[in-house]
Amino acid sequence: MGSNTDIVFLNGEYMRMHEAKISPMDRGFLFGDGIYEMVPSYSGKLVGFALHIKRMQQGLATIGIQLSKSDKYWRDIAENLTAKNGNGNLGVYLHVSRGADVKRFHAFPDKVTPTIFAFVYEIPTEPAADKTLTKQFKANSAEDHRWKHCDIKSTSLLGNVMHFQSGQESGVDETILYNAQNELTEASSCNVFIVKGTSVLTPPLDKQLLPGITRLMLIDILRQEPTLTIEEQVVTMDEVRNADELWVTSSSKEIVPVVELDGKPIGNGKVGDIWQLAQTLYSKNKFNY
Ligand code: PDD
Repeated sequence: MGSNTDIVFLNGEYMRMHEAKISPMDRGFLFGDGIYEMVPSYSGKLVGFALHIKRMQQGLATIGIQLSKSDKYWRDIAENLTAKNGNGNLGVYLHVSRGADVKRFHAFPDKVTPTIFAFVYEIPTEPAADKTLTKQFKANSAEDHRWKHCDIKSTSLLGNVMHFQSGQESGVDETILYNAQNELTEASSCNVFIVKGTSVLTPPLDKQLLPGITRLMLIDILRQEPTLTIEEQVVTMDEVRNADELWVTSSSKEIVPVVELDGKPIGNGKVGDIWQLAQTLYSKNKFNY
């Protein structure tokens, strides 16, 4: 028996999940040599699709995977998959690995065809901008032990997985990461924002964090709100701990308030007013991207 989201795409064809087979010599499997995206879709409406594809094309170029597929090619896959799987609340996962070689050798092989895999999975209903209904996260913090190219949306996610797992084992929902200078980078699967007064702050884009699409859209949306200032600037962990509000953002979660960090409340330990405003504006505008 398949799940409700059983139809997948592999190398040009749609098939049932159990029919999708790749070689164990695929460099995605052996080296984590690939790029991925996750795009949310609600009732068949994709959020931020062009931005996700732009990031994916840049990631492929950065790691030297040569694949010239148009934005329309990707949109067709995403729309076909959401339709074939019932057009519910879905995350569309797109994955390109460098492909299957005949030997295991670190250097990029000359003639290898990239493997293209896509599937969808159920995600929660659209988050409500409602303090009583929203998810509330507890988080811990840890020094960021990942590699120095966190700007690439690489399928090599072991560092993220280990940070996330340590949070799960401590009974929290996310792990907030900081560098050797005690500066915030991001979380194990999300970007991070803090609020102080009417200022919303998030670390600037560099190789320490993923250029999140939710982050990008949220900054753009909040810049149009006259009661708030929004800055991309270095944020220390002291500022995080003393913030009025702390949020994590990602495509499937949108903006989640973090009310407790390392066992201590953030602000008054309750979901904040600025979160409510931000999620309201995000919900209203997200389909424009
Ligand atoms: N995670 N930072 C990291 C390390 C992430 O893995 C993600 C997303 C984000 C947020 O990016 P975006 O807003 O583009 O989703 C930031 C995805 C959803 C995942 O791995 O499933």
